[in-house]
Amino acid sequence: MSLFRLLPALQLFYAQFASAQTSSTSISASTPTALSNNLLPAALLEPTISPNATQISSAPQSITTIVGVSRRTVSISSNATSTSSFSPQPTNSQPCNGHVEFCNRRFSNVSMVVAHNSPFAVAHNAASNQALPVLTQLNDGIRGLQFETHILNGTVQLCHTNCNLLNAGSLEAYLELVSGWLADNPYEVIAIMMGNDARVSPTTYIQPFTAAGMLPYLYHPSVPTANLTQWPTLSEMILANKRVVVMLDYLANQDAVPWLLDEFSYQWQTPFSPTDPSFPCTEQRPPNQPDDVSRDKMYMVNHNLNIEISDLIPGVGPMLIPAYTLLDAVNAVSGNGSLGVNVEQCTSMWGRPPNWLLVDYYNYGNFNGSVFQVAAMANNVTYSQDSCCGTVLSNRAHGKFSQVPVKALFAVFSFLVFLFS
Ligand SMILES: *[C@@H]1O[C@H](CO)[C@@H](O)[C@H](O)[C@H]1NC(C)=O
Ligand SMILES: *[C@@H]1O[C@H](CO)[C@@H](O)[C@H](O)[C@H]1NC(C)=O
Ligand SMILES: *[C@@H]1O[C@H](CO)[C@@H](O)[C@H](O)[C@H]1NC(C)=O
Ligand SMILES: *[C@@H]1O[C@H](CO)[C@@H](O)[C@H](O)[C@H]1NC(C)=O
Ligand SMILES: *[C@@H]1O[C@H](CO)[C@@H](O)[C@H](O)[C@H]1NC(C)=O
Ligand SMILES: *[C@@H]1O[C@H](CO)[C@@H](O)[C@H](O)[C@H]1NC(C)=O
Ligand SMILES: *[C@@H]1O[C@H](CO)[C@@H](O)[C@H](O)[C@H]1NC(C)=O
Ligand SMILES: *[C@@H]1O[C@H](CO)[C@@H](O)[C@H](O)[C@H]1NC(C)=O
Repeated sequence: MSLFRLLPALQLFYAQFASAQTSSTSISASTPTALSNNLLPAALLEPTISPNATQISSAPQSITTIVGVSRRTVSISSNATSTSSFSPQPTNSQPCNGHVEFCNRRFSNVSMVVAHNSPFAVAHNAASNQALPVLTQLNDGIRGLQFETHILNGTVQLCHTNCNLLNAGSLEAYLELVSGWLADNPYEVIAIMMGNDARVSPTTYIQPFTAAGMLPYLYHPSVPTANLTQWPTLSEMILANKRVVVMLDYLANQDAVPWLLDEFSYQWQTPFSPTDPSFPCTEQRPPNQPDDVSRDKMYMVNHNLNIEISDLIPGVGPMLIPAYTLLDAVNAVSGNGSLGVNVEQCTSMWGRPPNWLLVDYYNYGNFNGSVFQVAAMANNVTYSQDSCCGTVLSNRAHGKFSQVPVKALFAVFSFLVFLFS
């Protein structure tokens, strides 16, 4: 039996778990016999028995008892006979998105690193934005997958600007990898942010998401726009197994496709595809949104630095390509133009850290993984500096890249990088 068939029961349990935080004694939950311990995400619920905890419960078939560190909530009069009241503090050793601290935080209260143009990891293609493919990205800690979509031959295709320039295969094939990873990693919550470059109907996306096995994981928001307090916690999303938030930049229609969120109703962004190395924290999309609305919504910093090139490919028009030679500084923890400084600036301007740190070539920086160090600092958690990065080899399955050689383009690109640096 799949773990997730049991999730409704666990969710019920979780509600009791959550309410226990304010009650004065411990609780237990009776469950169907089918809920044997080895089928539970045990670590998530497992109690840590503190010797001082108020202990009750354990009816037959209880799955657990929530206990915790004693904390007095009433003063004891000299007449008190036995114990005082306690607020049980649930304890948890299962990380959510890599950190125990995140489990009880709302989705809107965690900073995550986004791979800009996640699928565009084609070696020696100047139109690439990443060196490592999606499974490696996810294993390394990327929790936002951003990319544009085009239509080729009636299917949704992952192309950069133009399918002749860079074609990374179908959306369905890419999502199959992601859904496999989600099945293997049941305590992880991610976002997928898509550009609807062909301006197709949102229903066009139903087929590839369905065929790739993504539908069971998709989060359906209860409101057509969400402020910071309307997002669930990571624990709630994990226990419900609704661990993927999907957003579309243009033409979303949540009445027609409830899981395909209208991106700018739920989050706003700093200037897109910046060529300005000072990375302003101002709000660009959606246009003209009042500040007080912005302050109460999730936001993304576009921290990818580009060089603009005109007439590189006939018919393609001016192109922005990553400032490849500056990546170590751009993705660094500190220094002029760094991600670290940008996050500090935006945090002080908006009163809270950005939710999404969008970067090119995430594995580069002042050390490999420095972008995750920046996110950890925003999240007030520690990051293990030697935990990044994986390699291309771990993602053999992702092989359906178009072989369109863009060597001439790459040569021009290298030359321009040389000129600009
Ligand atoms: C448990 O109780 C002992 C003695 O009553 C006390 O010294 C200790 O600090 C308590 N521990 C906790 C975690 O409250
Ligand atoms: C404490 O006990 C004394 C006598 O035993 C009694 O007079 C007093 O009212 C009690 N106080 C409280 C707060 O119960
Ligand atoms: C989470 O919320 C707290 C309280 O509002 C805030 O201090 C903190 O900066 C937030 N962290 C993130 C990453 O949003
Ligand atoms: C598009 O479809 C046609 C007919 O099915 C096929 O011959 C052609 O190879 C396809 N092109 C691409 C780029 O997949
Ligand atoms: C967020 O939205 C909810 C529901 O509309 C509302 O009750 C709450 O006050 C809002 N929070 C803020 C800070 O505006
Ligand atoms: C930081 O970079 C900007 C341009 O991006 C430049 O104008 C400025 O002088 C630099 N500051 C320092 C301290 O290097
Ligand atoms: C990071 O990793 C890449 C290989 O994936 C390597 O070429 C690069 O030098 C490393 N170091 C930094 C500081 O980014
Ligand atoms: C950061 O985390 C530490 C515990 O690791 C805590 O003591 C501190 O209050 C936290 N700071 C903020 C701003 O949340």
